[in-house]
Amino acid sequence: MIKEDLLKLSNDSKKELEGVYDIKQLNELKIKIFGKTGLLTTFSKAMRDVPVDEKPVIGAIINEIRKELEDKISEKEKYFKEKELNDKLEKEKVDITEPSKNNELGAIHPIASVTDKLIDICVSLGFSVVEGPEVETDYYNFEAMNIPKNHPSRDMQDTFFITENTLLRSQTSAVQAREMEKRKPPFKIICPGKTYRNESDSTHSPIFHQLEGLVVDEKISMADLKTMLTIIMKRLYGDETIIRFRPSFFPFTEPSIEVDVSCPNCHGKGCSICKGIGMLELLGAGIVNPKVLEISGIDSKKYSGFAFGFGLDRTAMILNSINNIKYLYKNDIRFLKQMQ
Ligand code: DAH
Repeated sequence: MIKEDLLKLSNDSKKELEGVYDIKQLNELKIKIFGKTGLLTTFSKAMRDVPVDEKPVIGAIINEIRKELEDKISEKEKYFKEKELNDKLEKEKVDITEPSKNNELGAIHPIASVTDKLIDICVSLGFSVVEGPEVETDYYNFEAMNIPKNHPSRDMQDTFFITENTLLRSQTSAVQAREMEKRKPPFKIICPGKTYRNESDSTHSPIFHQLEGLVVDEKISMADLKTMLTIIMKRLYGDETIIRFRPSFFPFTEPSIEVDVSCPNCHGKGCSICKGIGMLELLGAGIVNPKVLEISGIDSKKYSGFAFGFGLDRTAMILNSINNIKYLYKNDIRFLKQMQ
């Protein structure tokens, strides 16, 4: 009799187990079978009343059923746990191909962009890039550039002095003497960097940027300078650009020139960017004054050179049709977004 009851318990439990669909139900079934007052537990307790000769057989059957049910339950348990984990992983899956909601990107600042462009052009023409200190001595900024103390041409630049002999460099030309002292001709260098002057209006900022160029070799002439600048300008502004050279004065070059290009916005017709003139003044340049070569220990009978100095802020303003230099320094997000 007990044997049949046990068999029925086994079959019923197996059937019930098949219908179980989650871990909660499985736990309930476990308690129903193996709990303190569970079905199988009740049978084990009932063993007391089983005649001694039947005990081993019934005991063996109970053990067998227990083992079978336990195995089946733990199999199911494993299945549910795996399923739970997979469901969780599925839910947490990140679709890396989905476009992001916040796709705001930074942009390269117009000054950095024009500096990079000019560096690329000059490097492709054989120039090496050098740097110099922004806190400079009066000697390199002025004296070695043929601008002695009390020379009237110092008035061309309203300089921030730190002490009598130290200042914030007012021109990247200050690197010229530093490099000439270090190097043996022939050499071709450019120096991009920050420069400082006490001036501020819609086209001037107390901090601004220049790119200096210097070439020293034998038999350097004005023709070399004009060719080099024509190539650089055309690469920067486009092949159709018209370039104009005007005589000028700088203490460190003789002769000196200023270089204008046709306005890239209106191509010479006249617009607000070029103030109706059609041409834009872009840089100073010239044949290195032999005195400047000699001051830095270069034999001016054997060697000559040319130099040029770009205003990078102005170039950035022209290339991006910006009419006030303050936009370059305000960090106004609305302005910077337009540069993207
Ligand atoms: N240093 C000059 C300035 O800041 C620009 C300049 C003019 C640089 C002529 C040069 C040059 O190298 O040859 O106004």
